[in-house]
Order: sequence, then structure tokens, then C-alpha cells
Amino acid sequence: MYKFAVLVGVCSLLLVIPTLTWRNKAIDDSWDDDDEAWLQGDDPAVVDDIDETPDEKPETGDNEAAPTNNNGVSFVKQRFHYNSIMQLNGRINDSLSTSYTYLTIAFYFDRADVALPGFHKFLMEASEKERKDATKLMAYINKRGGWFKLRRIVAEEKTWTTGLQVLEYMLEHERFMNDNYLYTHKVASESSDGHLTDFLEGEFLEPRVEFIKKLGGYITQLKSFSKDYNLGEYIFDEQL
Ligand SMILES: *[C@@H]1O[C@H](CO)[C@@H](O)[C@H](O)[C@H]1NC(C)=O
Repeated sequence: MYKFAVLVGVCSLLLVIPTLTWRNKAIDDSWDDDDEAWLQGDDPAVVDDIDETPDEKPETGDNEAAPTNNNGVSFVKQRFHYNSIMQLNGRINDSLSTSYTYLTIAFYFDRADVALPGFHKFLMEASEKERKDATKLMAYINKRGGWFKLRRIVAEEKTWTTGLQVLEYMLEHERFMNDNYLYTHKVASESSDGHLTDFLEGEFLEPRVEFIKKLGGYITQLKSFSKDYNLGEYIFDEQL
């Protein structure tokens, strides 16, 4: 009986190992070299395409340079220009990267030696909002028959100190993202994509302007505690 069990064990291992190897190979093969380059971030041409040189892309707005896994969706594509799709891919990256950074900051405020629960909550919400923005963009791209490809997310290498420093960082970063959205809007207008410009205005541009105003207000309040910043920050945190 014991020998039989060992035999069965060995046989199933012999079966499982080749199957796993074959499976991994299949996954490897589904990534072509361009995918690799994109993931490694070492293809400057691809990165430049995203934000700087939309005019040099093919005029047809079709999928020549698109990732290879886009088969089967392009039949719903109409007036959805290549440049717009590239722009939206860039905005997805902005949102996911920002969500990641805000999450890190949220848990900085949660540390026992920092302990600012109001800031923790505020940053958690901001992080969640960015993640939702990214999913909204992905759903929109699918609806229009485009494609997207997630890029590597790089953590922000910064040291977080006070609530004021974080809010100032957020303000600067939100302005940067707003600029990117304005540019995406411009690219969409160039191909007369009214559907996309409407979507961008309603879902992203307007809310972002509101958020930037809110951050500006918070910064003014925190700066007014110049005599005893720590006490001021503590009181401010309770209200967040
Ligand atoms: C992704 O987004 C982040 C945050 O906006 C930005 O710093 C980074 O450069 C972007 N990466 C690429 C490859 O565009």
C-alpha cells in the first residue's frame, strides 16, 4: 500500500511538472518584445508618444501601434483617435500612480508617532478617488472600443513630514494632473471628439478644479497657525 502511494505520487508529479512548464511558456509567449520594452520603461519612443508628440502618430487613428491584444473591440470604435487613446492611457497611469502615493501618505499619518487620523482619512479618500478615476477611464476606453495597457507604477521618493508639507505637495501634484487633463482635452478637440471632451469636462476637469480650491483653502488655514504650528495642525486634523 505504502509503495503504491509513493508510485502514484511520483507519477502525478511527472504529469504536473511539464504541464506547469508549458503553461508558463504560454504566458511568456503572449508578451511580445514591445510589451517587455513598455513594461521596463526603456522604450523612449513609446513614452514620448504619450504626452509630447501626438501629432506624429498615424492620421487614421487606427491600431497599427496598439498593443497586440486589442482584437475584437475595434469594431465599436468611431472617431476615437489614436492620440486620444494614448492620452487616456497616460491619465490612467497618473491616477493609479497618484492613488498609490496617496495611500503611502495616508499610512504615514496613521503611524503611532504621527497619529493624525483626520489626515489619514483625507488621504485614504483621495487615494480611493484616484483609483476610481482610473477604473472610470478604463471603462470609458472599452466602451469606445479603444485599448489600454497598464504601466509600471513607481513610488514617489519623498519623505513626508507635516500636514502642511503634504498638502502643498498634493496641491502641486493636482495642478500637474490638471494640466495633463487639459492637454488631453485639447488632443480630443483636435479630432473633434465631442463625446470625449464632454466626458473629460464633466468627470475630471470640473471636480479637479474644486479639489484644488479645497486644498488651497486648507493650506491657508494651516499657514495661519504660524505661532504654534503643532497645536494648529492638531486642531485642524480634528476637523478634517
Ligand atoms: C505615471 O504617472 C506618474 C504620476 O503622474 C508620473 O510621475 C510618471 O512619470 C508617469 N509614468 C509614465 C511612464 O508616464
